Amino acid sequence: MSTPSNETFSPTAQTILSDLEELRVNDIRWRDGKAFSLTYCASDEARQLSETAYRMFSHENALNVAAFPSLKNMQQEVLDFVMQILEAPPTGAGFMTSGGTESLVLVVYGALQRAIAQRGSERPQDQRFNVVLPSTAHAALEKGCTYFNIESRRVPVRADWRADEQAMIAACDDNTILLVCSAPQYPQGVVDPMELIGQEALRRGIPFHIDACMGGMLLPFLAPAHMAWNFSVPGVTSMSVDLHKYGYTAKGAGVIIYANKELRNHQTFFTDNWLGGMYGSSGILGTKSGGPIASAWAMVQYFGHDGYRDLALTARKVALEIARHIEAIPELVLRAEPDTTLICIGARDSQTLPIFSVSRALRENGWYVDEQTPPDSIHLTVNVVHENRVEEFVADLKAAVQLALENAASTTSSAPLPYGSV
Ligand SMILES: Cc1ncc(COP(=O)(O)O)c(C=O)c1O
Repeated sequence: MSTPSNETFSPTAQTILSDLEELRVNDIRWRDGKAFSLTYCASDEARQLSETAYRMFSHENALNVAAFPSLKNMQQEVLDFVMQILEAPPTGAGFMTSGGTESLVLVVYGALQRAIAQRGSERPQDQRFNVVLPSTAHAALEKGCTYFNIESRRVPVRADWRADEQAMIAACDDNTILLVCSAPQYPQGVVDPMELIGQEALRRGIPFHIDACMGGMLLPFLAPAHMAWNFSVPGVTSMSVDLHKYGYTAKGAGVIIYANKELRNHQTFFTDNWLGGMYGSSGILGTKSGGPIASAWAMVQYFGHDGYRDLALTARKVALEIARHIEAIPELVLRAEPDTTLICIGARDSQTLPIFSVSRALRENGWYVDEQTPPDSIHLTVNVVHENRVEEFVADLKAAVQLALENAASTTSSAPLPYGSV
């Protein structure tokens, strides 16, 4: 980030800014394309535009958009763009959220409110409402179920890591209030099949959510003809898409889109049961910075449909290049052929190659890759920032594999480093 000039800031403020620069010295080097997790970077110009837009609205408060019509309009334009690329029906309606987790928690909350409105909250004491979802669906759904005391009914995925539609249908009962699939799921990066699940949702009259937090800004442009993954699948009632992932916006920007306003209404919250007046809110936050909204709006203007198509195609090309290199390393396996840009790598023989020794060696070398289990795997989130890093990464990956093999005898197995930490 460029530090503001001396003319703008007092010496004290300058010192604080230098301290901040110093504080980040041990952070992962995502702007250089050394991180395959947590961060996305399209270009320096796009990042700077996004940061400037964020700064312009960082103190504005989207809690009350009547006070900030600018934020209301920006949100609507961002939503219109996303609804168009998701093939949402003309009745589609959504909200901006702070990201995937808030979107998914709200989907669970909305499904619960809908079920209570339709069936009442009274149930035998030993019965809870449940959400039926594949074992690969994101952890944030677990969070939503935990917050609202709903059973998360996880259904094992097939051998190809995709949702087992028949098993999910069999797992539903009268207390099922929501079905979920992912496009793609995070761990192995494959898109779930969802047509039969959509039919089941229609048959039962329950909502069906597609978590496209990762794929929502990619799949529309990769146009996988054989894959049904959006509102065109009958039965889909809502989708979540993160702009702070493959929309390359500043952190804190996601969207949730519903097929119609009636479904969306279950997510909103209104109360006047206090002495401060009517409180209405679309999501979990109250006060909500305008920064992420302005950043998202600026990026949508800057890239537009064609720009995002180019970014998606480039990220996909880079991901496939890396995947082909990995296939050529005899000691490694791809857990799945990536459907988008997420790559999951395992050891061909986990007895001889402790895969987390490979990721640790990469980390020692300045790369940041995710570790996950089960099964023990390395995970890469590839984006356009990696375009000119492929050769270097692959060379370091090969070296890391050799090092891990040489040291395998003296290595004690290590637990994976966490996906998220507190
Ligand atoms: C498929 C999927 N859904 C949801 C999320 C959660 O998003 P966030 O970390 O923005 O809350 C992620 C994060 O990687 C994801 O991959």
